[in-house]
Amino acid sequence: MQKAKVGDLELAYLDRGSGPVVLLVHGFPLDHSMWAGQIDALAARYRVIAPDLRGFGQSSGQDQKTTMQQFADDLAGLLDALGIHETVHLCALSMGGYIAWQFWKLHGNRLASLILCDTRAASDTPEGAQGRLALADTVLSDGSLPVADSMLPKLFAPQSLESEALYVTATQGVMASTRPTTIAAALRGMAERPDMTAELPNIGLPALLLCGEHDVISPADEMRTVAAAMPDSVFHIIYGAGHMAPLERPERVNHLILEFLGRQ
Ligand code: MLT
Repeated sequence: MQKAKVGDLELAYLDRGSGPVVLLVHGFPLDHSMWAGQIDALAARYRVIAPDLRGFGQSSGQDQKTTMQQFADDLAGLLDALGIHETVHLCALSMGGYIAWQFWKLHGNRLASLILCDTRAASDTPEGAQGRLALADTVLSDGSLPVADSMLPKLFAPQSLESEALYVTATQGVMASTRPTTIAAALRGMAERPDMTAELPNIGLPALLLCGEHDVISPADEMRTVAAAMPDSVFHIIYGAGHMAPLERPERVNHLILEFLGRQ
C-alpha cells in the first residue's frame, strides 16, 4: 500500500487502474481488504482508490471519538493529496455508507455517483447508541477479539459461515487486529451520527443501492425504503449474501456496479 499525508495523519491506500475514480470506503471494524473481490474487477476500467480509514488497517490516527464527518473530511483530504479534483464515484459499505452521507453533505460537489452497500440512513435509537458506548468501554478493557467474535455471525449469511470461506476467517483476523482505541472511537462516532432520512429526497445523484438478502445489520427492507426516497436510485438484493455482500457475492456485485458505472 502507499501512504499519503493528510493533515497530521498518514493514510494508507491502494491505487489501481486508470480512468474515472472509484473511491472504496470500508465498513467497521475492517479495512480496505474487504474490497478484495472488487479491486481487480473495477481496476480494469477505473482508477480504484481503496483507503484504510483513520486508525484502521495501516493508517495512523488515535482519537477518543471519530465522527462520520471527520472520516468524510479525511477522504476529501486524501483526494486532495492525490491531486484528484474531478468528481468521483463513491462506493461504500455500512459505516462507509454513514461516511458517504456526510461526504455528500460536506463535499457533494466532488461526487459523480453513490454506490451504497448494506448501509442505513437512520441514526441509532437511544438504546442502540447506549449499546455502542458501552461496547466502546468493553473494547478498551477487554481488547478487540471479543468484538470480532461477537460480530462475525452478524456479518455473513449462514451459508457463508457454514462454508468456512477464506474471507470469513480473513475478516475475523482484520477485526481482531484492529486497535481497541480505533474501534472505540468509531463506535462513539457512529453513536452520534446524524439521521439522514429527511435528506434523502435532496440527494439527486445517480445512486446504486445493494443489500444482502440475509443482512441483519442493515436489513434489505429498510434499504429498499432508503432507495425509494432517493430521486435517482436503483436497488438490488444480493441473494445468498449477508451484510458483507461484496465479499460474499463478488461476481453479482461487480456486475451490478460495472453496469451502473457504465451508464454514468
Ligand atoms: C459496519 O459494518 O460498518 C457496521 O456494522 C455498521 C454498524 O455497526 O452500524
